[in-house]
Amino acid sequence: MRQSELYVRYARLADAAAISAITAEYARQGIMLERSDENIVENIRNFFVAEYCGEVIGCCAIAFYTLKLAEIRSLAVFNRYKMKGIGRLLVEKAESVLREEGVSEVFVLTLSSTFFRRLGYNDIQKEYFPQKIWRDCTHCPKLMACDEIAMVKTLSSI
Ligand SMILES: CC(C)(COP(=O)(O)OP(=O)(O)OC[C@H]1O[C@@H](n2cnc3c(N)ncnc32)[C@H](O)[C@@H]1OP(=O)(O)O)[C@@H](O)C(=O)NCCC(=O)NCCS
Repeated sequence: MRQSELYVRYARLADAAAISAITAEYARQGIMLERSDENIVENIRNFFVAEYCGEVIGCCAIAFYTLKLAEIRSLAVFNRYKMKGIGRLLVEKAESVLREEGVSEVFVLTLSSTFFRRLGYNDIQKEYFPQKIWRDCTHCPKLMACDEIAMVKTLSSI
């Protein structure tokens, strides 16, 4: 990949269809929660995208819970671009924005624990985040059989 053609930026409304395409494939495989097009559009300001040669090839979103706690979610990279450092770039961008906002703790619920461990996240009990359980998990079809791992990272101030 030509690094000069790759960058991560805030998503724009026009990126909604690309975000939907990237996440829908993994949702079909049961790897991620499905997000409707309406939900993506509603939350577009919380999304970041990775763009390569003018094409959106990855995305992630942030969700705020308290002044100090946030979640990184909807992280996905198109299959053919995996293992090239793009997931890392997306997470680092999200973390840097969260730091600027004064957030000190970020969590993820994921099936990709090896990836997040590489980025400094540690396993934690899901029950540590009751806000998450109330906001999303109660609406999830997998609720009683959740196979996702909760992981957390402390964001050091710059
Ligand atoms: C998880 C995902 C976003 C990772 O993106 P990626 O661009 O392939 O990851 P990167 O290339 O940035 O990898 C960063 C590090 O994690 C490691 N890594 C990435 N995926 C890995 C995997 N499946 N198994 C083991 N290590 C992995 C890389 O080797 C790299 O290690 P390094 O720092 O030693 O070089 C991508 O695999 C994906 O889209 N998965 C499907 C959706 C998903 O599971 N999303 C998470 C929901 S929260």
